[in-house]
Amino acid sequence: MKVENPWKQNPWFESVAVAQARARKRLPAPVYGALVAGSERGHSIADNLAAFAEIGLAPHVVGQLPERSQATTVFGQQISLPVIISPTGVQAVHPDGEVAVARAAAARGTIMGLSNFASKSVEEVTATGATTFFQMYWTGDRDTMIQRMTRAHDAGAKGLIATLDWSFSMGRDWGSPEIPEKVDLKTMVRLAPKVVTKGRWLWQFGQQYRQSGKLPDLTAPNLAPPGGAAPTFFGAYYEWMTTPPPTWEDVAWMRATWAQISGTPFVLKGVCRVDDALRAVDAGVAGISVSNHGGNNLDGTPAAIRMVRPIAEAVGDQIDVVMDGGVRRGSDVVKALALGAKAVLIGRAYLWGLAVNGQAGVENVLDVLGGGIDSALRGLALSSTAELQPEHLLVPDGFDRALGLPAPSTMRT
Ligand SMILES: Cc1cc2nc3c(=O)[nH]c(=O)nc-3n(C[C@H](O)[C@H](O)[C@H](O)COP(=O)(O)O)c2cc1C
Repeated sequence: MKVENPWKQNPWFESVAVAQARARKRLPAPVYGALVAGSERGHSIADNLAAFAEIGLAPHVVGQLPERSQATTVFGQQISLPVIISPTGVQAVHPDGEVAVARAAAARGTIMGLSNFASKSVEEVTATGATTFFQMYWTGDRDTMIQRMTRAHDAGAKGLIATLDWSFSMGRDWGSPEIPEKVDLKTMVRLAPKVVTKGRWLWQFGQQYRQSGKLPDLTAPNLAPPGGAAPTFFGAYYEWMTTPPPTWEDVAWMRATWAQISGTPFVLKGVCRVDDALRAVDAGVAGISVSNHGGNNLDGTPAAIRMVRPIAEAVGDQIDVVMDGGVRRGSDVVKALALGAKAVLIGRAYLWGLAVNGQAGVENVLDVLGGGIDSALRGLALSSTAELQPEHLLVPDGFDRALGLPAPSTMRT
């Protein structure tokens, strides 16, 4: 007779905060550090979280509705809940990495954003059946970009996310975690003191090694030249650093090129200012993500949620506006939608779920958020996320940050 261990930890978690606490315990400190990281003094990452907490909700006591819907259409895709997987490049926190995340996205009916720095190939990820949007930075020359876009399209990507906000702001006041050039024996011996106490995390990779003879190799397979080897993470980073920054003409070129190759939506991620949002509309994008890159980019940028309403009001319904940064619970999603976002993207929340329980952990995170959205809709006596409006919220005076609005003197003339 099999006797269940009554003290075995239940792998299910009830909140993203619990998933984070478990990820912290499970992962080696440098790996956990790479997930939590925010740039410089960490103002933007802190504000991403604090700003959501400043907004209140105004629930009813009676009159709640028995059925509530979260389904929506964004970037031409019908999704079951307004929470999309944001592309992140550090998914070697679990041996299945992006493949596990994509399976979870497919199981919960949402979009999978796949980073060009991903540890798994776009072909492996689309093979899960997930609706995959491939994400690219502005890196390499135009021919190289065309080759990467074509590969993503051929693999079945249903959209392109161009993340153009990165300004190479490197210094973190609490120190950057070490990322090894590659995982070889020498590196393993050097990092051993930081990982030997992390038995369960190590065990998964040991199992992968026993099954496939492979260790995570910290390369970027989606940046490999045709028929060539995948560059190391640092090789890829060097190409990116040495690529001249894009102009608005380059954005228009990239959008038009993707349209020619694929005909599917082009999304610009990292927009903070109203004037940039309007330029993005002019460049023909299908959507934008209002984002400060999860506080990893230029520190001092306001919380993404503070910038949503001014941008959503300025662009109206010309394009789809989504946001990312600081989303940790269903009520955060509801707040973002009420302020004008069509959906949100999540980063760290699903990385913690992935770290602690692979695909099931990511599904758990999506369920936690979906459950929280449902509770908020019920409390607000709404039947659908589509009904959310600013009046369902208590937004303190001066909450919004409208960056890049025409100066009042110019507006009067
Ligand atoms: C570890 C890590 C790696 C990331 N890598 C990428 C990336 O490769 N491409 C990208 O567009 N954004 C990247 N991001 C930013 C996320 O897509 C997203 O904007 C951010 O995580 C949202 O904030 P949140 O983590 O508070 O949800 C990364 C974020 C983290 C935390």
